[in-house]
Amino acid sequence: MKIVVTGGAGFIGSHFIRYLLKKYPDCQILNIDRLTYAGNIHNLDDVSSDRRYCFVQEDICHQKEMTTLLRDWDILVNFAAETHVDRSLVNPEAFIRTDVLGVFSLLRSAYQCKLRKFIQISTDEVYGSVSQGRLKETRLLSPSNPYAASKAAADLLALSYWKSYGLPVCIVRSTNNFGPFQHPEKMIPLFITNALLNKKLPVYGEGKQIRQWLFVEDHCGAIDLILQKGENGQVYHVSPERGYRNLTVARKILRLLGKPDSLMEFVKDRAGHDYRYSLNCQKIKALGWKPRHSFNSAFAKTVQWYKENTGWWQPIREGDFQEYYRQQYG
Ligand SMILES: NC(=O)c1ccc[n+]([C@@H]2O[C@H](COP(=O)([O-])OP(=O)(O)OC[C@H]3O[C@@H](n4cnc5c(N)ncnc54)[C@H](O)[C@@H]3O)[C@@H](O)[C@H]2O)c1
Repeated sequence: MKIVVTGGAGFIGSHFIRYLLKKYPDCQILNIDRLTYAGNIHNLDDVSSDRRYCFVQEDICHQKEMTTLLRDWDILVNFAAETHVDRSLVNPEAFIRTDVLGVFSLLRSAYQCKLRKFIQISTDEVYGSVSQGRLKETRLLSPSNPYAASKAAADLLALSYWKSYGLPVCIVRSTNNFGPFQHPEKMIPLFITNALLNKKLPVYGEGKQIRQWLFVEDHCGAIDLILQKGENGQVYHVSPERGYRNLTVARKILRLLGKPDSLMEFVKDRAGHDYRYSLNCQKIKALGWKPRHSFNSAFAKTVQWYKENTGWWQPIREGDFQEYYRQQYG
């Protein structure tokens, strides 16, 4: 299997590369990543000398370069994106550039290079807030923020490349992921690292928002399954289907670290904050997927990882992150 992973130096992409190397002895992987503030090549230190793996620093928006790079490869899985909703509210341009125009550039290159599979990694956020029930893949898209809107646009573009040009595209829409190597600006690592530093955990609004947290390794298994068995032109949901309030998640972190609930601080809610996301996963279950990890054990494992790997997250928190944090939470 010759597979290009774009955005492989980020959180989920780096786990996916490690997953492939472990599962497929004869795979070849090219990781293409621009290394934005969110990309961290040290996420892959343990596999960097593996002869089946190579890395190129490049921007997915550079279509000419991408076409050159994609020649002689079979499959592309695109994780590359601007991903933080809060940043999209302040600087939406960066999201339109990478998440829409970057995907457009990849689709054109993939078509020119006749790739045999293009997997676009999307998100449950494209549907906006879900008041009741679990949504199927056919639900109308109704994104609430520029990040979600840019991802929705990319999904539609990708599907149009299947319908118009026959590019073999699948879309994977998962719920929020958690696990090791997630940037400390995202809620779970932010709360864990703040708690470890005895800083307040900034909980948006009243903390009542509901998310179906997916362990990152279960997401990787689902992407692999879609790669093997997914039907072209189809969208697949990936979620453990059980939701938790943000407040519950914050409390769990404090319990696991032996810290008091008084470390929680309720802050002004995010603009356009979706109350609840909820996906129906019958379609991927019919392919044979189910999560292999229970939420509680994967969550405890994740908290423990941040506790033991301060050398990974402290340099990130000490860099540009400080200015971001000050602007965001005061
Ligand atoms: N993290 C989640 O909870 C979650 C949930 C559902 C879907 N997703 C989707 O999964 C994908 C990966 O998310 P993540 O959390 O790993 O993101 P991340 O922010 O950790 O990583 C994104 C990676 O993309 C790279 N990148 C950004 N712009 C680029 C460009 N122009 N060219 C090349 N590389 C570029 C960054 O350097 C980084 O390595 C995204 O598409 C995101 O929308 C994430």
